Amino acid sequence: MLGRLNHVALAVPDLAAAAAAYRDTLGARVGEPQALPEHGVTVVFVDVGNTKIELLEPLGDTSPIAAFLEKNPSGGMHHVCYEVDDILAARDHLKQSGARVLGDGNPKIGAHGKPVLFLHPKDFFGTLVELEQV
Ligand code: CO
Repeated sequence: MLGRLNHVALAVPDLAAAAAAYRDTLGARVGEPQALPEHGVTVVFVDVGNTKIELLEPLGDTSPIAAFLEKNPSGGMHHVCYEVDDILAARDHLKQSGARVLGDGNPKIGAHGKPVLFLHPKDFFGTLVELEQV
């Protein structure tokens, strides 16, 4: 079911500073910021060749990463995203296996214009898992 690692997401308190650190200090290829109001984040993708790093900054008053940044004020790893071929089949398999799908259980359109779902971190060893249909 699980395909390749699509990205690792880092929540950061200052997106411009994080993007500059990846671009200038680490010498990575850094994209332009994209505001995703329906997800409550502004995102910058960093292309590291075999995968991507997704830098996330809160957007709006009800950002899902605001509480994470309160607990981790300097930022931290927020989630990992794996690719799947069929997100509805993956969801049904996971639910049957007892894993919890966050939200209403229906895929939303993510940062790449593809359907995504999130799985409860307590079911996956303390890591929030995103699935993206590719
Ligand atoms: Co993501």
